[in-house]
Amino acid sequence: MSVELLKPELARIVRIKPMVEDHHLFQVRFEDAETVESFRHRPGQFVEMSVIGSGEMPISISSSPTRRGILEFCVRRVGRVTNALYRLPQNSLLGLRGPYGNGFPIEEMKGNNLLIVAGGLGMVPLRSLLWYALDNRRDFKEITLMYGCRSPAEMLFRYELETLTVRDDMSCLLTVDDKAGQEWDGNVGVATDLFAGVEFDAANTYAAICGPPIFYKYVIQKLLERGFSKGRILMSLERKMKCGIGKCGHCGIGGAKKLVCIDGPIFTYWDVVDMREVI
Ligand SMILES: Cc1cc2nc3c(=O)[nH]c(=O)nc-3n(C[C@H](O)[C@H](O)[C@H](O)COP(=O)(O)OP(=O)(O)OC[C@H]3O[C@@H](n4cnc5c(N)ncnc54)[C@H](O)[C@@H]3O)c2cc1C
Ligand code: FES
Repeated sequence: MSVELLKPELARIVRIKPMVEDHHLFQVRFEDAETVESFRHRPGQFVEMSVIGSGEMPISISSSPTRRGILEFCVRRVGRVTNALYRLPQNSLLGLRGPYGNGFPIEEMKGNNLLIVAGGLGMVPLRSLLWYALDNRRDFKEITLMYGCRSPAEMLFRYELETLTVRDDMSCLLTVDDKAGQEWDGNVGVATDLFAGVEFDAANTYAAICGPPIFYKYVIQKLLERGFSKGRILMSLERKMKCGIGKCGHCGIGGAKKLVCIDGPIFTYWDVVDMREVI
């Protein structure tokens, strides 16, 4: 594999915002002014982020391509590289290569209603799509966000999303599995409970979904019951990755018929319906 293909660009962490426990938002800017200008991504794409001296990992771009200059990444601390990232102070340098993956088919989605259903950390890649659609509001018909997480203290982007609940050009439905004794006036129940009472024009709606493994099973079941076709259910999938560019084979699914880093991470349900292990 050519080293050139894997060469990261230096980028500086301009701000670190702790969000909920073990989830920080990193605001990052490329060092090279030309790269800042030329970098383009689609909602749903990811980068390979390297923490110098510790290793590399795939991380979704959580900011919208409509907000240029600063890229935002929400990273959960889980292991070696994420711990090394959390040890870096503001102003530190990172390596970024990408953007990789297909991203959401936004041109095809335009002119339709958009339903975003997120669970837990699944809000991270879908936030890019949400803000892309809101910043290009006239390109989409109705926009609905359904987001569920375990408790109010675990809700990512809570204050940002609460400001959306009062907008009259979209519907933002938030829920927690359990209030856990915390301040919360909103819905209590799992994300699929939010479907009750919402009417869909399934033939003219794209559903974009991302969440923990069990979440896909129940959300897809709801969408099929509501008449969504398999090709209009778009899922963001995660697999262990190494190269991010289709060379190493680490991210193969369906007996390696498809590579998540190239053919995904966005798949329609139709694409993977025969790959039992995927969802
Ligand atoms: C396309 C893509 C986009 C991603 N976007 C984000 C993101 O926006 N924010 C974020 O926090 N994480 C994201 N991830 C997951 C992230 O890449 C892993 O959490 C990270 O690589 C863990 O590195 P580590 O060295 O800290 O953990 P390790 O020391 O390698 O592992 C620690 C634990 O995390 C588990 N783990 C490692 N990688 C993954 C993975 N891909 N999926 C599930 N569990 C994993 C391991 O099995 C182990 O239990 C994404 C993954 C993919 C494939
Ligand atoms: S990560 Fe190497 S082929 Fe996908």
